[in-house]
Amino acid sequence: MPSLTGPFLALAESGTPSASLACMFPLRAPPLSLRAMQPEDAAAVQASRTHPDNVRYQGWRPPTVAEVVDHARRQDPASVGRAVGTVQAVLLEDGVFVGDFGICTTLPLPTVELGVTLAPGQRGRGLAIRGARMLLDALFAAGVHRVAAVVDPRNAPSLRLFERLGFRREGHALASYYDEVYDEWADEVSLAMLRSDWIAKNLVDTQAPRL
Ligand SMILES: CC(C)(COP(=O)(O)OP(=O)(O)OC[C@H]1O[C@@H](n2cnc3c(N)ncnc32)[C@H](O)[C@@H]1OP(=O)(O)O)[C@@H](O)C(=O)NCCC(=O)NCCS
Repeated sequence: MPSLTGPFLALAESGTPSASLACMFPLRAPPLSLRAMQPEDAAAVQASRTHPDNVRYQGWRPPTVAEVVDHARRQDPASVGRAVGTVQAVLLEDGVFVGDFGICTTLPLPTVELGVTLAPGQRGRGLAIRGARMLLDALFAAGVHRVAAVVDPRNAPSLRLFERLGFRREGHALASYYDEVYDEWADEVSLAMLRSDWIAKNLVDTQAPRL
């Protein structure tokens, strides 16, 4: 019989989602950990998001480190799932920055949209998928109803990531996003996963080999 682990065990035992997302960070799955972005992470985050390898399909391309510091100071990690806005989290491997997640709380509450960027040189190691699984476990165990992602269809690594996680393709909008930097109307593929999908997937998959 498949078994539940981690936050799902607590969820199954309590029978109800956690009332609070406040204690979501830090998340740990050694050697990886995920915590809310701090001002001291700003230089690494800004450099990663604006690096030529990463900049093409970004929704947020902070032009200065100061803008990222400001975001880190203003954000409230306890607002995830509770209030509209974006909380930026950093993914660390043995304490070293390897990427970031944008966790955007959307309406109707509690729903979330995710974005992810790995630092230059960190792709192809499964870091994004392992970080995302850690984050999805925490979000869904805490009661988030739906997690979505919006991806440019030309961004093949990002589509692969969300489909490997089990996100469902919900639609393909034509020329729906205007990218000011590249001066073009881009298509958007919408993907999403429901909390019920994640629980069912983890029930059947806990014994199965992962990627
Ligand atoms: C999107 C992005 C995060 C995906 O990174 P990624 O490293 O390909 O993603 P994953 O963590 O899922 O790694 C999967 C790859 O690692 C390989 N891998 C190696 N070791 C692995 C392991 N232990 N576990 C899982 N996969 C592993 C897989 O085979 C796979 O390679 P493939 O896609 O060539 O088949 C990255 O391309 C990126 O930062 N892009 C720029 C920013 C961006 O556009 N973000 C999206 C905006 S919506």
